[in-house]
Amino acid sequence: MISEIIKDRAKLVNEKIEELLKEQEPEGLYRAARHYLKAGGKRLRPVITLLSAEALGEDYRKAIHAAIAIETVHNFTLVHDDIMDEDEMRRGVKTVHTLFGIPTAILAGDTLYAEAFEILSMSDAPPENIVRAVSKLARVCVEICEGQFMDMSFEERDSVGESEYLEMVRKKTGVLIGISASIPAVLFGKDESVEKALWNYGIYSGIGFQIHDDLLDISGKGKIGKDWGSDILEGKKTLIVIKAFEEGIELETFGKGRASEEELERDIKKLFDCGAVDYARERAREYIEMAKKNLEVIDESPSRNYLVELADYLIERDH
Ligand code: IPE
Ligand code: IPE
Ligand code: MG
Ligand code: MG
Ligand code: MG
Repeated sequence: MISEIIKDRAKLVNEKIEELLKEQEPEGLYRAARHYLKAGGKRLRPVITLLSAEALGEDYRKAIHAAIAIETVHNFTLVHDDIMDEDEMRRGVKTVHTLFGIPTAILAGDTLYAEAFEILSMSDAPPENIVRAVSKLARVCVEICEGQFMDMSFEERDSVGESEYLEMVRKKTGVLIGISASIPAVLFGKDESVEKALWNYGIYSGIGFQIHDDLLDISGKGKIGKDWGSDILEGKKTLIVIKAFEEGIELETFGKGRASEEELERDIKKLFDCGAVDYARERAREYIEMAKKNLEVIDESPSRNYLVELADYLIERDH
């Protein structure tokens, strides 16, 4: 079962996180910076990095610093994302800014962001490959900021097209999963065609993953460890909402910031009834199928099969 493989590799990731991301002084800053790392999380991105290294026939231990660097970037984006989205819960615990205040949360995110590059530069690989990896991860971070900005600016607009949504999620979510899969190819100096195939596997997986995350926001009440219905209350133009608006649906709580559970549930029912949820599910499935196709470039192996199964898991998970 892929969930067992994920658990196994995540254990390695957690051990390395303990070693590389220790609590330091000033205590108040590091308590905030380590808050989500300690709370857990699925560790999907670093697990993808380790499986991808194995699928390339290399020792996964040589990719462990890259894996931790990517999880660290991810945690940085979560801290800042929760400020932007005004969310209260993440990974089953209170969000960093809710507990420690917005100024400390900004600094905690900045700390993680810088530590990520420090860790990546410790990789066991030829220095010129490490430099390329650093440069690519930096570019990914720029694109995440672009994607996050698009996500926020869409809240202010009356209508957003599906292709704009796809571009936004490719940037805010796809590129980090793209580099999770392709960074071993960069570090190990593999052919560009292999690097590209793994990158595309991650990009398409990431788009499918984000569509599924948007679905969980409305269907995963009590299971996701984070705020439920938050996208609707924030006025997020998710694929589901874009489709529902096309169908002429009106939502009472959209962009209202607050609503009762009954009001939210009424709106969510409309999203199911008009077919928007099914539509988004189908699109997510299509992206996962496109992702898997890219793996044909690399030799067949157990780890390559795990990457195939993991792509399916991304849109089957319930949290
Ligand atoms: C949440 O990512 C942020 C998104 C890009 C949707 P995950 O669902 O991977 O979160 P964790 O790491 O398991 O908490
Ligand atoms: C998050 O998208 C993308 C990044 C963190 C860059 P969401 O805002 O949907 O993620 P969640 O649902 O809060 O985890
Ligand atoms: Mg967000
Ligand atoms: Mg969010
Ligand atoms: Mg979400």
